[in-house]
Amino acid sequence: MKVRVSAPGKLMIFGEHAVVYQRPCIVTAVSSRIHVTVEVKKEGFTINAPQVKDIRFVEETIRTFKQNYPFNLGLSIKTESEFSSLFGFGSSSAVTVALLYGLSKINKIHLTQEEIFRLGYEINLRVQGVGSGFDIAAATFGKTLYFFTGGKIIRPLKIKKLPLVVGYSGIKADTPKIVRLLKEKIDENKEEYEKIFDQIKKIVEEGKDALEKQDWEKTGFLMNKNHQLLQKLGVSIDKLDQMCQAALNAGAYGAKLSGAGGGDCMIALVNESNQEKVEQAIKLVGGEIIKVEVNALGVSEDKSL
Ligand code: PMV
Repeated sequence: MKVRVSAPGKLMIFGEHAVVYQRPCIVTAVSSRIHVTVEVKKEGFTINAPQVKDIRFVEETIRTFKQNYPFNLGLSIKTESEFSSLFGFGSSSAVTVALLYGLSKINKIHLTQEEIFRLGYEINLRVQGVGSGFDIAAATFGKTLYFFTGGKIIRPLKIKKLPLVVGYSGIKADTPKIVRLLKEKIDENKEEYEKIFDQIKKIVEEGKDALEKQDWEKTGFLMNKNHQLLQKLGVSIDKLDQMCQAALNAGAYGAKLSGAGGGDCMIALVNESNQEKVEQAIKLVGGEIIKVEVNALGVSEDKSL
């Protein structure tokens, strides 16, 4: 018996970092996916996951699943990815979620999306130690989500379209390290950072409405404000700032870094008439354009087998 399942990567639209500290964020699932094939074999486990940057996510997922739903099957597990783990699209979370789903299918156990999210978040915290769980939610539920720390609220937004350009900085961000460094700064000056997080929270709330109304002027304005606050948190870098500025100069409604900062990707909100110009401008300052659709499907079975 064999199943092939897949889960999407993600992009943070609004609210990174603040979401670690009891605030909401908005995350969208992207069309680039990670596929996991789980096949029953006589005995033992083989894991073939060359794109997974930290194999502990795979090992911990198997361990946690077995703990909750004991089974004796031998399994061969293979992963394939449609995107590089360097982009910061949440490859570890997508693998975790896809593998949980694959294991549940092969063992004929029905898990709800909520159950997959809970188990996935537990695994994520065990391996990584920090994180809000937003990436696990995006991989599980898909679409574009209003998400509150730890999944206290997970609500899909009514989004018809979201015309984004995604630019990769060429620099790999170390998310757990950036989150820990920021925590040290917060511990020294809690009040100042709480104020910034409250401002980000306001942006998320307003951004949610603007996105649902397709009010791109407002959404873009809020993206710029969010980026400025991320600069204030000290998590942006020159390259990301240059890419955002280039996008704005080329006519984007707004631009911001997406994720932990320190590298990975930025996003710019565009329309049909300026999309190409924005892409060229980002490339001119050394960014790489990553072609993805947003608002994508959550974890699901690949029916082609
Ligand atoms: O680096 P990414 O794309 O995984 O985003 C991290 C977002 C943070 O808010 C900084 C951390 C988190 O877990 O929410």
